[in-house]
Amino acid sequence: MRSSKSADAELSVGQRIELPKIGSRDRYDSLMEVVRNRVTVRKFDENFVVPECHYELILDAARHAPSGANAQPWHYIIVDNAEIKKQIANYFVAEQRFRAKAKMKFPTPDYRGLSTAPGFIVVCSDMRWVEAFPVLKVETPENAELNRMYKENAERILLQSVAASTMSAHLAAASLGYCVWWVTAIGQENAQKAMRPLLGIPDEISVLDIFLFGPPAQEPYKRWKKSMDEIASQGEFNPAQRLSRDDIREWIKKRRHKVMYRDASRID
Ligand SMILES: Cc1cc2nc3c(=O)[nH]c(=O)nc-3n(C[C@H](O)[C@H](O)[C@H](O)COP(=O)(O)O)c2cc1C
Repeated sequence: MRSSKSADAELSVGQRIELPKIGSRDRYDSLMEVVRNRVTVRKFDENFVVPECHYELILDAARHAPSGANAQPWHYIIVDNAEIKKQIANYFVAEQRFRAKAKMKFPTPDYRGLSTAPGFIVVCSDMRWVEAFPVLKVETPENAELNRMYKENAERILLQSVAASTMSAHLAAASLGYCVWWVTAIGQENAQKAMRPLLGIPDEISVLDIFLFGPPAQEPYKRWKKSMDEIASQGEFNPAQRLSRDDIREWIKKRRHKVMYRDASRID
């Protein structure tokens, strides 16, 4: 991708950041306008062509994200070839069918919309970046168990870092008026195998997610979000929000399909 001469030209490393007055609402309100209106759709207007500069604007937002050790362990591949999109979509559609057959009882979405998504970005990471985070340099039989914990932790830091960057990209797309779709690929060996040759991805690079965006082909709608009381406590953890495992299982059984989609009849 061509290097950007966008707004970034104004900020160099070490430069002082101009902060707004504490509590000033203008920037918050503009941000929340984007945050509130970022919504997932799973079918986009297939005739729309994303201007190249939009990819640049969106990935510039991804680039500025925070990351553990500032390692920035992400790589984004823009997919603009219709045939490759179709082949990637085929993998996810097949996986969706497998899950339905395996009776996982997860309300699996319809992945056919992947094949014609105008904005199509494959989110990758070189997982060897875990070494940038705290792990024991010499592993011995005595410290192996401890190091397992550090390694797990390092992997989580890496994944959280890529998710932070990906979210910046999603919000940038939403700010440009697009609807978005976050599709998970991490942990699916077959997805990795399907995509590597199509996109020339070397073995050491993992595909974590696919980020789709475009104008919606179906009416976008706001999904249920938990109330503030449910997600936050002050001073100490609010015991009223403590859930038993059964509460969670009950929620999954009775509500999950309703909150992923407006109601169970509208799986998109
Ligand atoms: C980490 C993460 C993984 C997701 N994975 C998938 C996925 O594999 N397939 C899918 O259709 N949607 C996926 N989604 C989208 C969620 O289903 C969607 O964000 C959620 O239902 C809330 O809807 P909203 O984005 O409109 O607020 C994922 C979202 C996140 C943040």
